[in-house]
Amino acid sequence: MSSRTSDVLVIGGGIIGLVTAWRAAQRGLAAAVVDPEPGGGAARVAAGMLAAVTELHYGEETLLALNLESARRYPAFAAELTEATGHDLGYRRCGTLAVALDADDRAHLRDLHALQQRSGLESEWLAGRECRRLEPMLAPGVRGGLRVDGDHQIDPRRLAAALVAACERAGVVFHRSPAERLDVVRDRAAGVTTADGTGLRAGQVVLAAGSRSGCLAGVPDAVLPPVRPVKGQVLRLTVPRRYAPFLSRTVRAVVRGSHVYLVPRENGELVVGATSEELGWDTTVTAGGVYELLRDAHELMPGITELPLTETCAGLRPGSPDNAPLLGPSGLDGLQLATGHHRNGVLLTPVTGDVLAHALVTGELPEEARPFTPLRFGPVPQARPASRMEQPA
Ligand code: GLY
Repeated sequence: MSSRTSDVLVIGGGIIGLVTAWRAAQRGLAAAVVDPEPGGGAARVAAGMLAAVTELHYGEETLLALNLESARRYPAFAAELTEATGHDLGYRRCGTLAVALDADDRAHLRDLHALQQRSGLESEWLAGRECRRLEPMLAPGVRGGLRVDGDHQIDPRRLAAALVAACERAGVVFHRSPAERLDVVRDRAAGVTTADGTGLRAGQVVLAAGSRSGCLAGVPDAVLPPVRPVKGQVLRLTVPRRYAPFLSRTVRAVVRGSHVYLVPRENGELVVGATSEELGWDTTVTAGGVYELLRDAHELMPGITELPLTETCAGLRPGSPDNAPLLGPSGLDGLQLATGHHRNGVLLTPVTGDVLAHALVTGELPEEARPFTPLRFGPVPQARPASRMEQPA
């Protein structure tokens, strides 16, 4: 058994763990990431909408402030990451159109518009014909919509690959093995033991293991984050050149209570998402999930049935009790959290990196992140999975 030491050891090499390690390294900390497959995780599946305004929900005004702050940081963050790596991130400032297909959807969208206006957000109500003027492939029955020019998109797979490259260039060390357990010595997080028995030691540990953050062995129950997996199934289609431009912006709708969105990339990929299912660790792509996404997307945009279906996949969002992330000191010395980002992991990547770097250097959360302290949940009694066999591979 060997032992290697860093200032900061990040458990989890998804986009949240990677941005944390990158920003920590930029602050002069010796950073390491432990993950068998850095750049994987929920971002492999995510559509990459940066939808602070169109994904606004009642009761989530505090989260809205963080989402808007991260959206504000995105242009500089994307430019810096591209500059550091030479990677094109597929960052597209194309805006979003949320539409309604029937009277119930329209009433729902009108309520969302009123909430956006009360929150001081920019969105414009459009009649159905104005929606179709913007996006001619929309179904003729569209009853109205909300134009939100500030909700953009990025390609999360490219973002993840760029963050791996940025970490490598900044000197972050990768340990390509699963973290088996957190090691606690004299009431302080001291490092991690990996599945191959290696002991990794660190001055501080960051738990950024996405949906798995709530079940790492060795984390004392009192600080174990209340994070659960929320399954999302997603489809990828390809728009042949002869159909381009099929869509010029992200289009989304609530169809009979289910959210569906279509995210067009510049390279012709069209991402259709996503289901939201509370099924534990299951990541099966089901006939029902694919059927519902295609049915709802087809109602929105009948022409999609002509497109090649190139990929189906499923991933696990890290859900938290209030749908907001857990950021910063955990209550156990030496252990910080960066998890629970639920539907907003891609959007919150820039602000999370900045917040965690600040917290690692100073021990304090910056002002904008104080509402997201993990301590807001207190010690939560919760059942761990009965065995590791029930956890994802
Ligand atoms: N933010 C989109 C989703 O989680 O499906």
